Amino acid sequence: LRELACAKDLKGKKVVVSAGATQEPMDPVRYLTNHSTGKMGYAVARACMLRGADVTLLASTGCTLPPVPFVKTVPFTTAADLFEAVKANAMDADALVMAAAVADYRPATVAADKVKKHDGEMNIALERTDDILAWVGAHKPEKLFVCGFSMETRDLIENSTAKLHKKNMDMIVANNLKVPGAGFGVDTNVVTIITAQGVTELPLQSKDAVAGHIADAIAGK
Ligand code: CTP
Ligand code: CA
Repeated sequence: LRELACAKDLKGKKVVVSAGATQEPMDPVRYLTNHSTGKMGYAVARACMLRGADVTLLASTGCTLPPVPFVKTVPFTTAADLFEAVKANAMDADALVMAAAVADYRPATVAADKVKKHDGEMNIALERTDDILAWVGAHKPEKLFVCGFSMETRDLIENSTAKLHKKNMDMIVANNLKVPGAGFGVDTNVVTIITAQGVTELPLQSKDAVAGHIADAIAGK
């Protein structure tokens, strides 16, 4: 009940959140993906819903989390699907939070039939996917607040600040995968929030609490 009683400071705002891992098929049986479970994005969707926002959650079909109540969910599988979903849903929104872990490369061809094994090695040719946030950064309307995420194993602040500027984001939530309590599948995170105003290191906390900081930023706090 305490959750429901929170301030409705996002009332009237449309927030689009992406969550989970893309899956890039190579044949009808196999795909390339990553370890993202969607927990961080689902937490952001829930926090914004509780604070009164109209929330659309672009959720990977690989996510096994329970749906977030009172949130419109749009499924995606590949990076290309997610790109279409972002274009269709986010460009008239007040905020886009890209927590999805998007493939940078996909198999260059998708075999119509199962690829059979042979003796010796096998190689898969990969091609680049589109960078969705870079596109949004180049096309975003004035009112759209864009929050990206970054996963790094070294040079967290330098690499993440470079992404913030390169993709014209308003904020990036950077996490160092090598810190205990941060990263994939767990309910906690250790993040550094970077904006044009500066760098804020947050201590270990629940993904719900990190989501609260992101909701604060969307609310202009
Ligand atoms: N992202 C995106 N489209 C892609 C790849 C990433 O929109 N094709 C978004 C992610 O959702 C995330 C942000 O860009 O919010 C940063 O993703 P990350 O993988 O950390 O950075 P990259 O720019 O892909 O660089 P690299 O993986 O080489 O570190
Ligand atoms: Ca990447």
